[in-house]
Amino acid sequence: MRSVQGKNVLITGGAMGLGRLFAERAIAEGAAAVVLWDVNELALNDTLADLADGPVAVTGYIVDLGDRAAIDATAADVLDDVGHIDVLINNAGIVRGNNYFWECDPVRDTQATIDVNTLAPMFVAHAFLPGMISAPGETRLLNLASAAGFTPNPRMAVYAASKWAVIGWSDSVRLELKQSGAEHVKVTTVCPYYINTGMFDGAKSAPLLPILDPEEVVEEAWEGMLAGSPFVVLPKTVMLSEVLKGVVPIGVRDFIADHVIGVYHTMEDFVGRSDKGDAGAGGSGGSGKSGAKGGARSARSRKDA
Ligand SMILES: NC(=O)c1ccc[n+]([C@@H]2O[C@H](COP(=O)([O-])OP(=O)(O)OC[C@H]3O[C@@H](n4cnc5c(N)ncnc54)[C@H](O)[C@@H]3O)[C@@H](O)[C@H]2O)c1
Repeated sequence: MRSVQGKNVLITGGAMGLGRLFAERAIAEGAAAVVLWDVNELALNDTLADLADGPVAVTGYIVDLGDRAAIDATAADVLDDVGHIDVLINNAGIVRGNNYFWECDPVRDTQATIDVNTLAPMFVAHAFLPGMISAPGETRLLNLASAAGFTPNPRMAVYAASKWAVIGWSDSVRLELKQSGAEHVKVTTVCPYYINTGMFDGAKSAPLLPILDPEEVVEEAWEGMLAGSPFVVLPKTVMLSEVLKGVVPIGVRDFIADHVIGVYHTMEDFVGRSDKGDAGAGGSGGSGKSGAKGGARSARSRKDA
């Protein structure tokens, strides 16, 4: 695929951060339709106000990805509204820090993180992947994992677990598509280190791992997605951890990660988003109230549809 020109693109977590940049890129390439999902109604409406002026149809749906029923209802509306999705970007994610695992709340922290980061991309893919497989042209699934899915790291145990699972799922689906002959559907798993979007505010850079610019991550992820690359790992130093896993005893790997690469204390001063961009996530919110006229919409009641 050379660009998303003429394609229908759906981006979860499209109101801010990487999601908004992915939307800008899809618009710049002349997508037929850009569909943004987000739980943050205010931020989504701001983004729509900025992006929906041009020739590309940009629509927003207020949906809590922690709520499977809301995912299913919103997906049904999207299929009614735009017909099919060619490019699915599973981008939304949350992090709860900076406590040790046993200090986290089992529901507000642990369950919410797994629901939004791990299960939601699977449920969203369940809704759209069959259509992408039966589509005549090239289609793409881009899943945002994290370097934390390769490297264990104190004070983000559940986040690491959630992304570890995404990597295993995403890359297995890539193989399944290939094995089943659906080679026009390519899956790209993106695994960046900390990015300067606000999500990980307070996290420290490590000497060999500078904090990344969102524009750089989106550029690399986008190019990887168009090319159908299985993985985009940023920076490449992250792969050192994978190599070390295979060749050195775990104590040596821990020493290198802690004292040479310097990763194991990076979350100590984490504060996260001051604007709490994922407020409402966690499985009980459902889809939110409709936005201003012309703004983001909620899932329609299927009984009324
Ligand atoms: N920022 C980083 O350092 C970093 C590093 C590696 C991977 N990632 C991953 O990249 C992706 C994007 O991160 P980002 O930095 O742009 O984050 P961000 O916080 O800037 O944006 C995330 C978006 O997801 C939305 N969202 C959160 N919970 C939601 C829910 N329950 N339902 C619907 N929408 C919800 C938020 O409202 C927000 O618009 C995430 O999956 C994240 O885990 C981020």
